[in-house]
Amino acid sequence: MRTYIKDLKNLVGKEAIIKGWVSVRRDQGKMVFMDMRDMTGIVQCVVLPDSPAIEIAKETRTEWVLAISGVINKRPEKNIKDGVQNGDIEIEIKNIEVLNKAETLPFDISSDTKEVNEDARLKYRYLDLRSQRMQKNIRMRDKIISFFRDYMHKNDFVEIETPIMMKGTPEGSREYVVPSRLYKGKFYVLPQSPQQFKQLSMVAGFERYFQIARCMRDEDSRGDRQPEFTQLDFEMSFVEQEDVLSYTEAMFIELVKTLYPNKKITETSFPRFTFAEVMEKYKTDKPDLRKDKNNPDELAFAWITDFPMFEKKDDGSIAAAHHPFCSIKPEDKEKFMKGEDLFGIRANSYDLVLNGFELSSGSIRIHNRAEQKQVFKLLNITEEEQQKKFGHMLEAFTYGAPPHGGFAPGIDRIVMILQNEPNIREVIAFPKTGEGRDLMMNAPSEISEKQLFELGLEITKKK
Ligand code: AMO
Repeated sequence: MRTYIKDLKNLVGKEAIIKGWVSVRRDQGKMVFMDMRDMTGIVQCVVLPDSPAIEIAKETRTEWVLAISGVINKRPEKNIKDGVQNGDIEIEIKNIEVLNKAETLPFDISSDTKEVNEDARLKYRYLDLRSQRMQKNIRMRDKIISFFRDYMHKNDFVEIETPIMMKGTPEGSREYVVPSRLYKGKFYVLPQSPQQFKQLSMVAGFERYFQIARCMRDEDSRGDRQPEFTQLDFEMSFVEQEDVLSYTEAMFIELVKTLYPNKKITETSFPRFTFAEVMEKYKTDKPDLRKDKNNPDELAFAWITDFPMFEKKDDGSIAAAHHPFCSIKPEDKEKFMKGEDLFGIRANSYDLVLNGFELSSGSIRIHNRAEQKQVFKLLNITEEEQQKKFGHMLEAFTYGAPPHGGFAPGIDRIVMILQNEPNIREVIAFPKTGEGRDLMMNAPSEISEKQLFELGLEITKKK
């Protein structure tokens, strides 16, 4: 029977078998010391000169995988290390079974791998993830996600998986496309977010939807952006902006209290600014409101509301500032219906900001066909194009769509800030590089001539 390293402290004076990796090894000639590691922690082991295991112990190297049996001893008083896991015990090894050997690792994982070249870390991500910090980040990410799932379920939300292969959704970025074999020349598009499906789930009568949702956007990566990322996506029916804000605020306060009790929220209720106010006061819509910007345990949340509905793109054309499904503030409805002062029209949309990062965006949506068509018209989308791209939404709105709204906090950014990491790659198990490559699997990569043929695709090489 295998014992987990975390449970050894209860077995002083007894024998146990542990399985794991050699984390650190010190050959002192007559004796060999090694720190053994499993998913639950680390323990110091010693092989005495007269142990039957001494010969094998001398052959072992770091990161070999071993099954070890031995006696758990209390350490002599002078060797006790306070505040260290298992600092007061050690295993006197009687037997070692080598389960697998390991080549010398390309970099040291016994200390923080932050200093290691990032390309090497990403190429050998399965080794980088063995380091203590990365294990902690990924395990805390799991705890955060599981907190959100529980919280949502406790509040009557239902998790619905929406398609990964779909038609484009206008979230403002370039889309990833997947060629169809059966319908040559046609393509699926990967979701930039489940926006349309979550709204259609409201039309479907679920009233409270959520999803730990994977989103894909073909945009330049940077510290807080990946081509593939995760949202806590949710949507509620029969709500107004205030309902979404107060639900979200309570959830984040509870998250911090439960999982990060040492962290302090600068101000509750979270301060609120309209877009106009925040731009006037801070010249940015993501102000960092921490009192002490060097304090890693300070969390300054803020709400920004009343964003403009439309924005001018670099080429002078008009676009939806968030997305075209946001409803319009009552005060600006008249301008909206008349199509006047487009850039002065405000939406019922809101962001949650944390320590200078945009954590989430959302809005109260349009649920009326005529209003939705007016947005498309003002965006210069022709009738024909409206039908082609959004006919399903316009139609759904004619069959009793309830008023609804929602939000989508970015999980990667939340974990990054809570774990005090400088970028989201540190909290994603298998991220892409800044240039969108997976260095471990070597993606993107070419596909065979046969696959290309089956898909009806031809690659034109640049001359
Ligand atoms: P939006 O596009 O603002 O809204 O995204 C919501 C949140 O998702 C996170 N996020 C990202 N995280 C990592 N890498 C990226 N490339 C990336 N892009 C976005 C951010 C951001 O605040 N459907 C709407 C939400 C809604 O209206 O309900 C949406 O996706 O934390």
